[in-house]
Amino acid sequence: MRADPPGPPVRALPGLLRKLAVDRLGMMKDAADLGDAVRVSLGPKKLYVFNRPDYAKHVLADNSANYHKGIGLVQARRVLGDGLLTSDGEVWRAQRQAVQPAFKPGRINRQADAVAEEGGKLVALLRAHEGGGPVDVLQEVTGLTLGVLGRTLLDSDLTAHESVAHAFEEVQDQAMLEMVTQGMVPSWLPLPPQARFRRARRELYRVADLLVADRSARMADGEPGEDGLSRIIVAARLRDRRPEQVRRMLREELVTLLLAGHETTASTLGWTLYLLERHPEIRAAVREEARTVLGDRLPDVSDLHRLSYTTMVVQEAMRLYPPVWVLPRVAQQEDEVGGYAVSAKADVLICPYVMHRNPRLWEDPQRFAPERFAPQAVADRPRYAYLPFGAGPRFCVGSNLGMMEAVFITALVTRDLDLRTVPGFRAVAEPMLSLRMRGGLPMTVSSAP
Ligand code: HEM
Repeated sequence: MRADPPGPPVRALPGLLRKLAVDRLGMMKDAADLGDAVRVSLGPKKLYVFNRPDYAKHVLADNSANYHKGIGLVQARRVLGDGLLTSDGEVWRAQRQAVQPAFKPGRINRQADAVAEEGGKLVALLRAHEGGGPVDVLQEVTGLTLGVLGRTLLDSDLTAHESVAHAFEEVQDQAMLEMVTQGMVPSWLPLPPQARFRRARRELYRVADLLVADRSARMADGEPGEDGLSRIIVAARLRDRRPEQVRRMLREELVTLLLAGHETTASTLGWTLYLLERHPEIRAAVREEARTVLGDRLPDVSDLHRLSYTTMVVQEAMRLYPPVWVLPRVAQQEDEVGGYAVSAKADVLICPYVMHRNPRLWEDPQRFAPERFAPQAVADRPRYAYLPFGAGPRFCVGSNLGMMEAVFITALVTRDLDLRTVPGFRAVAEPMLSLRMRGGLPMTVSSAP
């Protein structure tokens, strides 16, 4: 028989809504404490939170056709439009087919070289702060991930466009504000955050137009393009002939790739370097592995599988701080999940942040313990207990590139440098479109012992 999942009592709703504004991670945890399936009714709106691997599998993979992208991403559509991350159905399928080959295994060698070179530059840049005051490591790794994305995916130099990282922050602030107020503040109101949002969007579109114009000119000169940017240019022109429509699609696609590809990887690196600073023995083991595998050279693609402990460290950091902390969906038709009824048009949330800290799935879940990702331990766990890259057809298209970046950069930085947070510093997770670190990551730099 199909039952309704349990939910909080009506009197608890004002408290839950307040938490949505000030403590979204706490709210998700409170919801999960009520059970593996929870239903919250807000007037006619229904919201379900599922916190079991098999329920997640049903929503993300087995019956994924019934679940389109939901809360938060709907708001993000104001800038990402119908790009790959936010689109659904046939539009999504065509875009995925266009972009996927840019990530095919044959390209990984070239990508590895670009990541390694950018990693070498990052180490030099951080070293310039040796003996000086703290530097915001999160800002520096964000610059790195943008640079890598430009070189590996867009065949363009993004370092000339420093404004991009800041513009993304502004856009996300607004998307979150809209999510929290559920779109009740009209976007045309002349409020300062709306003005900042429009300015930021203009800037992102300006950079996108420049990149497209440059790449198109090189394509017209006969330069072949296997990279993601030339693929989306060709695909957009096939989809529509009207120049305005093509321009809109290209802006949305490109801004999507930039957002999806750089913040997530920067967040992974920020949390990994922070956790390593807090755990000297694990830091020493990463350093030892990097010295044994790499000596004093830059990594290449063949080193990836040999940096196995560093890989486990990055995986464990993404367990505690999954950059994509929630996977929001909207049910298209009514459905049944684990025997519970889900109504049509309901919002459905799968929350990696909460699932990754569920004590029924992870022993002593708050502890940073990379050995959880040793092959046998992974084989003993349900596959859907760990979802840093999502699952099913919407699985992250750039997971290999993101993982390689995180592992190479963690190895290089830890081998060469000792990064320390300033006394009294504690990182606070800020759940925006990705799990950011509020206020950045100020660290002092010295040479590794
Ligand atoms: C460690 C870094 C990364 C993490 C943790 C991550 C995580 C994710 C997750 C969880 C999703 C699924 C979202 C959902 O189902 O709602 C996703 C999708 C996506 N990611 Fe990543 N990602 C990372 C790196 C990258 C990179 C480097 C790129 C390159 C551009 C990228 C591009 C995308 C795109 C385009 C999608 C949408 C795919 C689709 O819907 O078909 N990501 N990512």
